[in-house]
Amino acid sequence: MNKTVLITGASSGIGMETAFEYASKGFDLIIVARRKVKLDEIKKAINEKYKCTVTAIPKDLSGINSAEELYNDVKNMGLKTDILINNAGFGIKGQFIESEIKRDEEMMMLNMLTLTKLTKLFSADMVKNGVGTIINISSTAAFQAVPNLGIYSASKAFVLSFSEAIAFELKKHNIRVIAICPGATESEFAQVAGFGNTFTKQSMPTSKDLAGFIYKSMGKNCPVAIHGLKNKFMVWSARFVPRQLVVKIAGMMIKNS
Ligand SMILES: NC(=O)c1ccc[n+]([C@@H]2O[C@H](COP(=O)([O-])OP(=O)(O)OC[C@H]3O[C@@H](n4cnc5c(N)ncnc54)[C@H](OP(=O)(O)O)[C@@H]3O)[C@@H](O)[C@H]2O)c1
Repeated sequence: MNKTVLITGASSGIGMETAFEYASKGFDLIIVARRKVKLDEIKKAINEKYKCTVTAIPKDLSGINSAEELYNDVKNMGLKTDILINNAGFGIKGQFIESEIKRDEEMMMLNMLTLTKLTKLFSADMVKNGVGTIINISSTAAFQAVPNLGIYSASKAFVLSFSEAIAFELKKHNIRVIAICPGATESEFAQVAGFGNTFTKQSMPTSKDLAGFIYKSMGKNCPVAIHGLKNKFMVWSARFVPRQLVVKIAGMMIKNS
């Protein structure tokens, strides 16, 4: 029997390419996002190419009870989740005082609360099964505060810190937890966050590159996986620069993009 991977935010970008990557490796899929039409197209495309079962669950994951609803849907369908990939997320570019509080709330719910609750619900089953993998998509923005992307970078710092802590706790139960930290990557992220042309015109890795990286990271014994040499170097070198200066540089990079 194939193992099953549940991927949130699988209707575009990194999540969609990760769905194709795992399908190509013989996994069954549960794909989740709000846009049903997109999910159905992806399911069809995967079924045409690979022999695996794809279950599409259209759902808004930014509600207070979204995680419980998704978990119950999966259980009621009689599906078992061997790998959980918490990928759904978005950012909001701009001054903190200018963004709509409702949108801020949605971002915090999706990027942190739903991710945490899904991890809790599915890891309980994984503990019972004696094995499992949880992959949480953080960001290189997690390693320093980023002005004009303040709540987003803080939410990704939460994902990184939370993932590292539970990676330690769950190791004895044979459950692996990995925080993936992409840098700027081609996807719908920039458009949704409100970045301008400078961001989208820079040369950056594709979501397909990230999908391959996520799959490979499962085979390595490391709870934090930063994508790309340049990003690894930036994270490493920031340790030797005063914190305030790092924040200033990060803010300048975002402001000009
Ligand atoms: N691209 C980058 O530069 C970059 C860098 C670092 C980290 N990341 C992280 O990578 C992850 C994937 O982002 P991406 O770059 O692939 O962006 P993307 O193309 O915009 O994909 C985001 C996915 O999340 C889903 N989503 C958004 N709001 C949702 C909601 N309320 N409920 C359910 N699903 C929702 C979207 O689907 P629907 O719209 O259909 O719901 C979509 O499938 C995110 O966590 C992001 O923070 C991205």
